[in-house]
Amino acid sequence: MQQIDILHLGKSFASSGGIRHVLHDIGCSIAPGEVVGLVGPSGCGKSTLLNILAGLDGDYRGQVRIQGRPIREQLGAGFRVAYVFQEPRLLPWFTLAQNLAFVLEAGGFARREWPTRIDAVLEAVGLADYRNDFPAQLSGGMQQRASIARAFCIDPDILLLDEPFSALDELTARTLRQSLLALWQRFRTTIVFVSHNAYEATFLADRLLVMGRGRIVQEIDLRSVPRPRSYDDLALFESSKQVIRILEQQAALPAGIPSPLPH
Ligand SMILES: Nc1ncnc2c1ncn2[C@@H]1O[C@H](COP(=O)(O)OP(=O)(O)OP(=O)(O)O)[C@@H](O)[C@H]1O
Ligand SMILES: [Mg+2]
Repeated sequence: MQQIDILHLGKSFASSGGIRHVLHDIGCSIAPGEVVGLVGPSGCGKSTLLNILAGLDGDYRGQVRIQGRPIREQLGAGFRVAYVFQEPRLLPWFTLAQNLAFVLEAGGFARREWPTRIDAVLEAVGLADYRNDFPAQLSGGMQQRASIARAFCIDPDILLLDEPFSALDELTARTLRQSLLALWQRFRTTIVFVSHNAYEATFLADRLLVMGRGRIVQEIDLRSVPRPRSYDDLALFESSKQVIRILEQQAALPAGIPSPLPH
């Protein structure tokens, strides 16, 4: 398990209106096995940051280091990234088991390991009885649960999730958050997730990075809140209110310029 260090990260895109500066001097460290949440207004650069952490976008300023080495070098040396999106993105022509086998094969896992890995994660998310079903035979929540199982079956070094539960109703989202945390407890994967839901974010995270426009404007430490957590925990409720307050302050700032750094 490796430490991730983001140093003076900056990112700009060329667009029809000129250069769009999206990330400004982002800096943070993520400890192995930590659950870090990114919250912030739409367009502040959360998905852009996840894409850089995934190694999908190598065109940035500053450094992203994993155990001291550049991210793309680590990816070439066997560092494994899994990415879960808002929609499940399962391959419709494969059964659940085949969807998982597909990523195991792509990840270079020996065929003899596949059944144990597939059984373990499908069992953990409560889908063992659906292993031979096709995605279209499952509900949206079950498909998303399968996509989380697929992410964990390769035992990733880092799991990135971009608003993974935002398309689900609250009760389904709660069961999926439990599934995610159960798998995290088992694999101790480093997790970086994006959420628009302050209550979800505080419930899941060890640490929250609240972003304003293109910057981290506040860090909220939730490591002292014991797990398993309860949605009724007053400490989490207070932190959620704090997140919403910061986001309201950010929304009130003048448009078009990056958020000022906190004092
Ligand atoms: N390929 C691209 N080309 C040009 N601009 C881009 C590109 N990708 C993202 N951007 C711009 O970067 C900014 C941040 O986008 P990003 O998708 O990271 O936001 P976000 O914080 O994930 O927002 P949301 O919460 O709505 O998903 C936006 O202004 C967007 O227009
Ligand atoms: Mg996004």
